[in-house]
Amino acid sequence: MKTEILKIRNKNPEISKIRKAAKIIKNGGIVIFPTETVYGIGADALNPEAVKKIFKIKNRPSSIPLTVHIAELEILYSIVEEVPDIVEKLVRKFWPGPLTIILKKKKIIPDIVTGYLPTVGIRMPSNEIALSLIKEAKTPVAAPSANIFSHISGISPEDVIEEFSGKVDLIIDGGTPEFGIESTVLDLTKKPAKILRPGALTKEELEKYLEVKISKNPKKYKVSSSEKTFLILVKDGSPEKVLKILEKYKNRKVGILTYEENKKNYENFNYKVVGSKKNYRECAKNIYKILREFAREKYEVIIAEGIKEEGFGLSIMDRLKKIAKIIC
Ligand code: TXA
Ligand code: MG
Repeated sequence: MKTEILKIRNKNPEISKIRKAAKIIKNGGIVIFPTETVYGIGADALNPEAVKKIFKIKNRPSSIPLTVHIAELEILYSIVEEVPDIVEKLVRKFWPGPLTIILKKKKIIPDIVTGYLPTVGIRMPSNEIALSLIKEAKTPVAAPSANIFSHISGISPEDVIEEFSGKVDLIIDGGTPEFGIESTVLDLTKKPAKILRPGALTKEELEKYLEVKISKNPKKYKVSSSEKTFLILVKDGSPEKVLKILEKYKNRKVGILTYEENKKNYENFNYKVVGSKKNYRECAKNIYKILREFAREKYEVIIAEGIKEEGFGLSIMDRLKKIAKIIC
């Protein structure tokens, strides 16, 4: 298949280009598009044949549900059974934005979209390209993150072109997403509500509105196409521990993932800085980018310093734990 790559402005996107992409979705095709979190691989959520293609292209098991993206609040009422007051309050506050909510679905959402679960994950993205694409397609858009199953999410046009060229109808090159890490997934069918995946909306922000619990998620990720890259997470982030581990792997190509404040400890080694500990949001934005760089440069071992599990730190640590082969 020939994949068209279409550059679109992420502010005031060119409407003729958006219409072209929307038409592909409407006709049952697959479009990769940017959101404010990561790139998504999208199809018409009401077209089971189109949705099936996403599972196939991503090599994703059919039991893992896809997120449905909407552009207007009214659509929420047409796809879920019930919208309790607290949910209404949450979405009015955080949408459009990086919050995915899980509620009981109506029949209109095909079972294949939700991995045959009675619930559906829904999100209204704030990225202008994503929003106008969904609006123009005049249908909810099922879109998981644009990555092969179990790899980390694509966060740049280069990432998604590398993984999906020749496999989808269209890739929209819409620049770099604002957050660089996925949305927070909140299961509102449980009491208290459960964070199934910490992401670009912090637990602390949500807790201003409702009580939330964090669920344990044993899922594992790989760093992009480099399945050989082996990550060791040093939970407390101590440079002494990192240096000790480094000693063990000195015959391998080893890279250290560190922060501005700690880099001076590694002057004689290969390291990459994800940001300053004073700005976890910036670190979250860089984490996948740096991990992909390590993989592209064929590092065999990454030793990653851990950080505090608060704010965006919780999401960073969640991803590092999912990627790590050893946590110490
Ligand atoms: O930021 C994001 O959420 C991106 C962009 C493209 O919107 N999307 C994304 O989708 O990360 P995906 O499918 O890669 O991750 C969504 C997560 C999955 O782990 C899925 O299992 C969970 O949300 N999820 C979706 N619907 C669910 C449901 N009904 N029940 C439980 N988990 C659900
Ligand atoms: Mg994903």
